[in-house]
Amino acid sequence: MDRALSYATTNGRALEKALFEFVSIPSISAQPAYAAEVVRSAEWLRARMEHAGIAARVVSSAGQHPLVIGRSKQIDGAPTVLVYGHHDVQPVDPLSEWDYPPFEPTVVDGVLRCRGGADDKGPTLAMVCAAEAWNRGAGGLPVNVIFAVEGEEESGGHHLADFIREHPDELRADCLVILDVAGFAAGVPALCYGLRGIQTMEIRVDGPSRDLHSGGYGGAVQNPAEVVARLVATLRHPDGSIAVDGLLDDVAEPDAAESARMGELPVDEEAFRAESGAPALFGEPGRGLYERLWSRPTVEVNGIFGGYQGAGSKTIIPAWAGAKLSLRLVPNQDPSKVVAAVKRHLERHCPPTVKLTVTVGHGAAALLTPPAGPWAEKARRAMADAYGVEPKLVRAGGSIPIAQVFHEVLGLPPLLFGTYSPGERAHAPNERYPIADFHSAVRAGIRFFGIA
Ligand code: BES
Ligand code: MN
Ligand code: MN
Repeated sequence: MDRALSYATTNGRALEKALFEFVSIPSISAQPAYAAEVVRSAEWLRARMEHAGIAARVVSSAGQHPLVIGRSKQIDGAPTVLVYGHHDVQPVDPLSEWDYPPFEPTVVDGVLRCRGGADDKGPTLAMVCAAEAWNRGAGGLPVNVIFAVEGEEESGGHHLADFIREHPDELRADCLVILDVAGFAAGVPALCYGLRGIQTMEIRVDGPSRDLHSGGYGGAVQNPAEVVARLVATLRHPDGSIAVDGLLDDVAEPDAAESARMGELPVDEEAFRAESGAPALFGEPGRGLYERLWSRPTVEVNGIFGGYQGAGSKTIIPAWAGAKLSLRLVPNQDPSKVVAAVKRHLERHCPPTVKLTVTVGHGAAALLTPPAGPWAEKARRAMADAYGVEPKLVRAGGSIPIAQVFHEVLGLPPLLFGTYSPGERAHAPNERYPIADFHSAVRAGIRFFGIA
């Protein structure tokens, strides 16, 4: 173990350089124009795994972004650790809001400023670097390690899900490690045992056959943009509680033990508010911050569009308007029942003066795997030793749909290592990733491999 740890220290700069190379590839999976960059990042990662002593291949499939599958040299009788991560990133617009170009890694006060640093190239690469430290610094890994790194996590793809179902034997392991959630606070890691699920939907409201003069027709023809605004406003009450009939029916509340544990976590709502940049926080009355973020469902409008957006004014009734929605789901909610409830609600609230179309996007159930047993204990110990502080036990509000597939098909509850400081601005302009967090994550990986 000491030799692997000291390899990571001695070669710290080289590992950082690798991180900078990785994040400079704009592997935006949602935007077709960047498909070749997603291929390039897969190829870069494959080569880096080889450098780390991991035999790796890029798995391609028509119309889907490539996966990288890596496997360490087989040690008979040793346990196998499966590591999941993603090498794709979110789009960067609005570009004008970035302080530094998103794909030209810049370190400011020890913090890497670029897209994909925290979500999820830094944490994913940290585990590859941990394998490198064992293989190149200590004569070999003490365990078997398999990497499964996908290129379409951010865009709801199903390439890896198909791969898991079609090749479960290639991925059989004793535990599953995922580094794709935040830690608890700067320098304080987290062991996360719950994720919210997700369901995306899109609505479109069509009115007249073309844009109409708002003087010639206004007052006699319904306005689709107004209907979209009314419809999205019916989804929640003003206090943030969900107003869709049936949507809360199956929601499972945390049990007494978990509620007690959640109640003991330090909470600083003002710090959370300040980091968010919002003038005030919001949410269901009577529910604590962690409850609102982790164990309550939400419905959000991600975007709303339609009508004239150019300079000056244009007096029209737009022919159509639309909105993108995403719901966060909690344990016991079934994505297909949620879709049915929302559709029923929208149809009931939509006036007959327009035509409503609801398109269903991707869905995934929530995940709740209370951390118990020897693997969770090893994860806890690895993080405590690497960070010098105990990890906090948390859930997270985001979603990693593939975790559910690993759980179902391979029977592996994920060990979610929260390794980086919150406030990383994932999915937003000015994403940041403290370099110290990268090195801590490498050490946590080295230690976990060492005691696995
Ligand atoms: N790393 C996040 C998931 C995450 C975020 C977990 C915050 C816990 C806390 C992941 O890359 C992500 O963004 N997932 C998407 C999934 C979606 C595109 C299907 C999400 O949560 O929106
Ligand atoms: Mn991620
Ligand atoms: Mn993400």
